[in-house]
Parts: sequence; C-alpha cells; structure tokens
Amino acid sequence: MEGRGSLLVTNIGELVTWDDERPVRRDAALALADGEVTWVGDAVGAPAADEVLDVAGAAVVPGFVDSHSHLVFAGDRAAEFEARMGGRPYAAGGIRTTVTATRAATDEALDANVRRLVAEMRRQGTTTVEIKSGYGLSVADEARSLAIASRHTAETTYLGAHVVPDGTTPEAYVALVTGPMLEACAPRARWIDVFCETGAFDADAARTILTAGRAAGLGLRVHANQLSYGPGVRLACELGAAAVDHCTYLADADVAALAGSGTVAGLLPGVEFSTRHPYPDARRLLDAGVTVALASDCNPGSSYTSSIPFCIALAVREMGMTPYEALRAATVGGAASLRRDDVGHLRIGARADLVVLDAPSAVHLAYRPGVPLVSRTVTSAH
Ligand code: NIG
Ligand code: FE
Repeated sequence: MEGRGSLLVTNIGELVTWDDERPVRRDAALALADGEVTWVGDAVGAPAADEVLDVAGAAVVPGFVDSHSHLVFAGDRAAEFEARMGGRPYAAGGIRTTVTATRAATDEALDANVRRLVAEMRRQGTTTVEIKSGYGLSVADEARSLAIASRHTAETTYLGAHVVPDGTTPEAYVALVTGPMLEACAPRARWIDVFCETGAFDADAARTILTAGRAAGLGLRVHANQLSYGPGVRLACELGAAAVDHCTYLADADVAALAGSGTVAGLLPGVEFSTRHPYPDARRLLDAGVTVALASDCNPGSSYTSSIPFCIALAVREMGMTPYEALRAATVGGAASLRRDDVGHLRIGARADLVVLDAPSAVHLAYRPGVPLVSRTVTSAH
C-alpha cells in the first residue's frame, strides 16, 4: 500500500466485499490501515483518514487471486499456437520445447520474465499469484525455478512432475522427483503439483509423487482431466488436495467426488481458448455445490494470458457462470484454492488488496471484454 497510514477509499458506486450479509454494497466507502481493511460502510458515514481516494462512483472489487500460473520460463511458443489455430492439436509434449529454452536461460533472464509477468498481472488487478516450477525438470533447474518464484510470491509450487524429460524413463524420473529433486525443492515450495494425464503421469505415479510431497510437508495440487477423461480428479479428492485444476473432461463420478470433498476445482479457460478444447462446465460444478476457482494458468504453451478479467469474460460467456459467480471464483475461489482466508474478500481484517474499476459495476468485467477496466490496483504488497 502507498504509505502505511490510513487510506479512505470513498464514493464507491459498487463495493464487492463478499461479506455474508451484504456481499455487494452501493454508495460505500472502505478504510485501510497497516495493510488491512479496517472499516466498511456507507460513504456518508465514513471516518476521517490520513489520505482519501475518491473513486467518483466507480466499482471496487477484491484483488484477484490467481491460483495457477507457470511464470518461470524462457522463450515463447507462438509458432505452436499459430499451427494450432491452423488445425494442429495441442500436445503436452510441447512442454519440452520450453524446458530446453528455460534450461539455457540465465537466472537473471528468468527472474526478469517473472517480474514482467507479475507486473502485467498487477496492472490487470491480480494481487495474489501462485507460481509453479516445471520447466526445469532437473534437480538444479527445478530448484532455481523455485528460488526465483519465491522472490515474487509466497505461493510457490514444485511441479517437477510436469512431464518426463527426454533421456530418462518414467520410473527413474519418478524416483528423482520424489527423492533428490524433492529434497532440493521442498525448502522453497509451499505446494507440490503433478500433471496427471495421458502423456504425462499416470494415477500410480501421481499418487507416489503427491504422497512423497505430503511427507515432505507440502500441500497438494493436481493438474487433471485437461485433455481427456481420467482418474486425476478422483485421486486429488481422495488425497485431500487443496485444488485440482483444469477439470475440462469430467464424468459424473468426478463431479460427485468433488462435491463430497474439500478440494477446489480450478477452471482455466485461457487454456480452452488457446487449445480449442471445449470449455469446462462451471454451471454443472456450481449446481453440484463444488467450490470453483478461476485462474489464468499463464504459461507459454497452453494459455499465454496473464489476464483474470479475460478469464472472467470467458467464464461468463462460455462456461455458464453469472458475472458475480465468475468474480467470486477469481477472488474467494482462488483464496480457497490456496487455503487462504486473508485475501479474495474485503471484509474487516482482510489484506488491503483491491481493484478500482473504470466502470460502475463488476458486471462490466464480462460485459466489456478486452477493455482495460482496471484503473488502479491497491495492494498490501505481501
Ligand atoms: O497447465 N497441463 C500442463 N501444463 C500446462 C501447460 C504447459 C505447456 O504447454 O507448456 C497447463 O496447461
Ligand atoms: Fe498449469
């Protein structure tokens, strides 16, 4: 936050706090001090503060919580995207192209790329971001990826199990991921993740990897059911993972497993935009009572967008969500995915992370797709 004194944000046309009783307020104000929300109420009764920000009727929403990204990489795969748009299918094997470029990059170049993308996210309203490794796939390259990620966020994820790199066998690689690589990476990671999919890791390997990560003190996240139906979602629920992300191809048993679990379903519509797979059915999940998060999956292969507003627009247009359901998934949902209760809402005690929109309501995030509506991002800078 700019300075640590108190700041009053006032003349808010629409304030989304996600408070249980009044989740959305009109003609509101909000006070911040020491990096936290300290007061919420009607603009007419607002307290005095060291500084006042008059937003002149604009909407204010919680800072977006992007619970899934892969920002530590070098190069891009624009040619692969161009070929896909000409009819070629997406394949997980493209990950290895980025692994080659990432291994060849200096620490400084990788750090600069993460900094650039985090700044891009910030300009579009993201105030909390999870960042995965996964383009190193050797002990040294995964460890340095996490060291770089940890300079930019506390939400770091060890994804040594992204694909099996060239020059080894699946068995030998799982032994490395659960042995020396885990040992080198665990000190810099909060989470462990595995890509459970044909062409990546099967359910047995994923179980072995997640169990080893848990024993090393890491929380569990899973990539699953992105390209085809499979066992990943049910495995994530059975192991009590915090999140299972993608959830594009879901059988009824997967939806039932999610509904009966504490596992958050992370939906990543930037991927379907960029791979031409069908969008996940958020309506089906919400109607079953599943907690849904919306995230960018920002990476150079399957989803090179850093924009949560873009993901919100896709979720509303293509996935059966209302504008407020999509906003909720990109804020409270992301926080649930990261097992955080200090972000994703603007109730008293929340971190002072908020977005001022150049619009009178949050509906405009989906109603005006592609328009840069974030006029200001205030952050507690954690
Ligand atoms: O989340 N699904 C696996 N990993 C990434 C894709 C990475 C890539 O294509 O480089 C994802 O979509
Ligand atoms: Fe991903």
